[in-house]
Amino acid sequence: MSDIKKIKDEYLAKINNNHNLDNLNQIKSELFGKNGIIALEFKKIGSISANEKKQFATNLNLIKDELQIALNKGFKTIEAKEINSKLQNEKLDITLPERNFNQGKVHPVSQVIDEISSIFSEIGFSVEEGPDVENEYNNFTALNTPDNHPARDMHDTFYLDKKKEYLLRTHTSPVQVRTMNNGKPPFKIIAPGRTYRSDSDQTHAPMFHQVEGLHIDKNINMGHLKGCLNYFIKEFFEVKKIKMRFRPSHFPFTEPSAEVDIGYEIKDGNIVIGEGDKWLEILGCGMVHPNVLKNVKVDPKKYQGYAFGIGIDRLGMLKYGINDLRAFFETDYRWLNHFGFDPLDVPSNYRGLSR
Ligand code: DAH
Repeated sequence: MSDIKKIKDEYLAKINNNHNLDNLNQIKSELFGKNGIIALEFKKIGSISANEKKQFATNLNLIKDELQIALNKGFKTIEAKEINSKLQNEKLDITLPERNFNQGKVHPVSQVIDEISSIFSEIGFSVEEGPDVENEYNNFTALNTPDNHPARDMHDTFYLDKKKEYLLRTHTSPVQVRTMNNGKPPFKIIAPGRTYRSDSDQTHAPMFHQVEGLHIDKNINMGHLKGCLNYFIKEFFEVKKIKMRFRPSHFPFTEPSAEVDIGYEIKDGNIVIGEGDKWLEILGCGMVHPNVLKNVKVDPKKYQGYAFGIGIDRLGMLKYGINDLRAFFETDYRWLNHFGFDPLDVPSNYRGLSR
């Protein structure tokens, strides 16, 4: 026992003289480490005679506590010393002028995509994505647009290879094909994203954005399509009433097909959506063609539904009074600062994304 007492005195002295963090940590592991002095002493208990055992253990515990307390005190002293020296040496000069602070803005296209996704997710649509580089089959053939169909030329496609197997998707409709090929009906999705056509003027850019919508289930009819679009347009433009008309049209992937116009008027130089006697085309839609359903192995006798494709940039231009589409993609910081959105500003019709 005298041995351990000696060790104790020796270590107490070491602790009291050593006010340096590294040394204290070293002492701690020598004493209390897995194979440290204290652990080794405890191991001896097994070989001690029964009448000495109790005394030995009591003493050892007392010594252990004493060392522990001294060590903790040592650590506390060092901590206090460090804090004091920090307080003395680190001074904040609050008279210094602040650094230049540039806050980023959310691009209007991203903002509009978020708003659209939020509105549709409220009524049960989930958000799907597809790649910008598509194959010819998903972009055209599966969508009932065979070779030599005039719609292929109308789309001014950017092909990526001589065989015309790969292309930059000309619309978001191939996400319909991908979604239906990868799942089982019912489907209720929107797919916002980038699309490409070789076209450029004040209202057309070679890269632009669309959102595709698809709702396939049993007994879905054109009334559902009308109701859904009416709801969306009202929510998006934040108006109570909307004038909306369906004009017969043609898309290879829908039958019947329609284009949708909304009413507007110009008041004091500003466009007012939902009133007036002027019409503005904003989207294409229709009932999904049975051939499309067959191509993705959905039985058109059991399932049917509607689809639509909306130009996102156009909607953004209308809602936020931006009149040149090309400005969207010129990455002019001043423009973005003016038309962009504060990331922390939540629009009034925003209800959070379910993504
Ligand atoms: N994909 C068409 C386009 O880019 C838009 C469109 C029309 C999409 C009708 C649809 C639809 O899903 O049903 O011009």
